[in-house]
Amino acid sequence: MNVLVLGSGGREHALVWKLQQSPGVNTIYAAPGNAGTAGLATNLPLGVEDFEGIASAAIRHQIDLIIVGPEVPLVLGIRDYFTSRPELSHIGIVGPSKEAAQLEGSKAFAKAFMQRHGIPTAAYQSFGPEELEAGYAFLETLSPPYVLKADGLAAGKGVLILDSLEAAREELQAMLLEAKFGEASARVVIEEFLSGIELSCFVLTDGNSYKILPTAKDYKRIGEGDTGLNTGGMGAVSPVPFADPGLMEKVEERIIIPTIGGLKSEGIPFVGFIFLGLIRVGEDPYVIEYNVRMGDPETEVVVPRIDSDFLELMQATAQGRLSEVHLDIRPESAATVVMVSGGYPGSYEKGFPISGLEHPSDSVVFHAGTKGDGEGRVITSGGRVLAVTSFGEDFRKALEKSYERIARIEFQGAGYRKDIGFDL
Ligand code: AMP
Ligand code: GLY
Repeated sequence: MNVLVLGSGGREHALVWKLQQSPGVNTIYAAPGNAGTAGLATNLPLGVEDFEGIASAAIRHQIDLIIVGPEVPLVLGIRDYFTSRPELSHIGIVGPSKEAAQLEGSKAFAKAFMQRHGIPTAAYQSFGPEELEAGYAFLETLSPPYVLKADGLAAGKGVLILDSLEAAREELQAMLLEAKFGEASARVVIEEFLSGIELSCFVLTDGNSYKILPTAKDYKRIGEGDTGLNTGGMGAVSPVPFADPGLMEKVEERIIIPTIGGLKSEGIPFVGFIFLGLIRVGEDPYVIEYNVRMGDPETEVVVPRIDSDFLELMQATAQGRLSEVHLDIRPESAATVVMVSGGYPGSYEKGFPISGLEHPSDSVVFHAGTKGDGEGRVITSGGRVLAVTSFGEDFRKALEKSYERIARIEFQGAGYRKDIGFDL
């Protein structure tokens, strides 16, 4: 079986790393991949939005299964592209259709979906450019802080939380009338602020049956104590200690079952990973957001904890027979710490050589923004450079190992958060 993993981050390196442990795997391809995937797979120089290029590569390399890492190709309809072409329709795809991907691609769609299916989420209304006055009126009915969300994909930047009504009104106008987030903010969701602790839950589904994967918590801010600018994610732990069986039962009954059932009943069954961004308010879980893919860096702690044959899980998902396979999870905790380029998430330089990657240890160094320099060295090529994952009896012990491993890795300007898990 030949498998293609689409994407180029730590998430995709972790997926390739896990697949490579399955005896049924023949050749793994990554597109475009990074220096980490290059060690385990064949990197193909293709962009994730280049459906034609991906299709010709899939035929040329006799690919049987494609696992889609990031959201953009899903929202653009890569699944529909493959299933609608007879010469490609035999290829299994782990990733939802364009319509189902609207759960991430449109916050207004996701909110309306949750409302239709009684899934707990913050109260909201959505507004277009002609509805600015109605938006102002809705803001008046809420108490601060105010939550404004660009409807479309905005690379994780489209959510604003504002303390004053004045600021909320200004930002609403900038989003709706001045394209603050481009096309993405042509529609804006305004919602009630929920106060609680966040966690992420991942579900693998073939549209009928589902498996609940381990929970994780990520740390999005650049600075210690969750301060400073938002990043793609600076570290993660799994499982989340407060996600006890009582909470998870509520998540399954109130959120997972109605989500999968709701999609099926609306004729858009979901095939792939559902990433539930949740908040626990009191004892109850609410959905903050849906993503239609795995998280990054959450994948780097969730996937290594899966003990079952990963290829079998992926194939069963693509072929609609997930109920036939068993999911085993390693009992140990996992933690990952992300090493970033100096200056990230602002502007930063690339191209610095990375040393210490070969040092022996039981930690796994997943590559994110790395590439080969053509002379056998690995150099930095992105903001998030590496994600260093370790296992331990609890997340603190796992973290200690990741920090020890990081101490051996060097590149100019390297930074990382020393307080992952600080709030747990
Ligand atoms: P999102 O991109 O939807 O995950 O939102 C980014 C972050 O904004 C979330 O991780 C939360 O920390 C916060 N957030 C979003 N919606 C709300 C809400 N209704 N109440 C409180 N915090 C929220
Ligand atoms: N770590 C958050 C995300 O992948 O969206």
